[in-house]
Amino acid sequence: MERARFLVFWCGAIHCGISHLNGHTVGLSFNQLCKFCDVRLTDCKPTGSCLSNCNISSICERREEVCVAVWHRDGEITTVETVCHDPSLTFHGIMLENYKSTKCEMKQIKALGPHFYMCSCTWEECNDELIFTPLTGPSIINVPVILISLLPVLLLAVLIISVYYCYRIQDFRRSRLRTKRGPAHSCSDTCTIMGKEDYTNSMNHNTELLPIQLDSVVGKGRFAEVYRARLEQTSHTPGPAPFQTVAVKIFPSEEYASWKTECGIFSDAELRHENVLHFLTAERRQTQGQYWLVTAYHARGNLQDYLRVHLLSWDHLQKVVCSLARGLAHLHGDRTPCGRPKTAIAHRDLKSSNVLVKDDLTCCICDFGLSLRLDTSMSVDELANSGQVGTARYMAPEVLESRINLENIESFKQSDVYSMALVLWEITSRCTAIGDVLEYAPAFGKLQGNPCVESMKDIVIRDRERPDIPHSWCKHPGVDTVCHTIQDCWDQDPESRLTAHCVAERFNAMDHEDHSPEQKIPSDTESDKVQLPLLD
Ligand code: ADE
Repeated sequence: MERARFLVFWCGAIHCGISHLNGHTVGLSFNQLCKFCDVRLTDCKPTGSCLSNCNISSICERREEVCVAVWHRDGEITTVETVCHDPSLTFHGIMLENYKSTKCEMKQIKALGPHFYMCSCTWEECNDELIFTPLTGPSIINVPVILISLLPVLLLAVLIISVYYCYRIQDFRRSRLRTKRGPAHSCSDTCTIMGKEDYTNSMNHNTELLPIQLDSVVGKGRFAEVYRARLEQTSHTPGPAPFQTVAVKIFPSEEYASWKTECGIFSDAELRHENVLHFLTAERRQTQGQYWLVTAYHARGNLQDYLRVHLLSWDHLQKVVCSLARGLAHLHGDRTPCGRPKTAIAHRDLKSSNVLVKDDLTCCICDFGLSLRLDTSMSVDELANSGQVGTARYMAPEVLESRINLENIESFKQSDVYSMALVLWEITSRCTAIGDVLEYAPAFGKLQGNPCVESMKDIVIRDRERPDIPHSWCKHPGVDTVCHTIQDCWDQDPESRLTAHCVAERFNAMDHEDHSPEQKIPSDTESDKVQLPLLD
């Protein structure tokens, strides 16, 4: 093998920097600088790495030559050979492998015996360090190849993460709805600690509308129709998607103002109360020209329809009147049972058809389309502009006369209390504890249909009439308390009426007294017997 040798003691930066940049050979390369001691004795072991101990560096004769090292043990003698070599030619009968590496990684050449290792490389004096255990690192890892082979896995991971993320967003929205449906404050008005995240405006600002299937109409109001509907839930198991039954109140676009009012009332999360209909969300269904309010659904329907077909036991009556008074007290209150501030609200259309019967036979107040937020900052003019609203049959005398005291926001509450008194009377009239129970009739039942304001004025103001409370009702001490309360609520003078809060307290106290008819009612006369079957 003909080799021209240039012995160099130090090549300096010129060679190193120009021929190789970061291990990559550049076009203008100089000849390689390698250790070049030919064969020498060594005490290197074929593990880890060791140095050649060759003190001769040589610029290889030809550009294509690379650095090569051979470790060989023959009996007791171990040698290391360091040379320059052209990789296009065999060396010891073997073609050089991996000679573009910047490190000299020893490879066992079994064809030349068990103790023959060879390495080749292209970097200044790279054959000085003989590496027997190949390093794993960037130099032997082909990053692009790895990336390309990982691409399908990466894409799959991105897909899975995206699907999961979308699912979580959906799930979060639905669980928020479920949370909002859960109990707020207990019937005894104790304070339930709830996370602040529950107190958000539930307008669905998402472009994606909730997956709701309408079933059938369950109510028709002045401004909207109410449907029973299914709100699809996300399911983790195969099969039909589970759903939550909800009520959807659909306002046509002309009734936008009413929808907006109701949204405004419900937007105060502090309104949440077990005796106030639970609001879930509101949606603008622009393409259908509709505005939706999604609320809890109560299969027993409204109190008026319920009273038409059901009689109430004394216990049941207590539940209903207690919950109704609590609901109104909560609406009117400017604090929650936990003491958090809230805006007081006047319902302004309280009537038995705007009260729903819940599964546990307690009630909740609904339909806030005419309600008014009694913002303490509201001016008399603003209050005056709110006008005479409600259902004439249930209107307080001062509302019928449009003589409500606008200087005092309490006036609106007092009018609600009058309306509640009429509802309480309707409830009591269907209680088996009063004796003979007649067919359901609303207050002032002699006026059929929807009496006008003028007719109601004649009865309520001119004649000062109120629904009849027969003496027989008062034989039952509990009913007697209810009747006195009713009378204290429909007083002609708004200022003399009880507050809803006071009514709730009275009914609460009654709840703890024993009003069992065996003790308090002398005898069960024939006239006290129930005429209609008790359906609940
Ligand atoms: N009628 C009006 N609103 C209702 C509701 N939320 N559930 C059942 N019936 C209703």
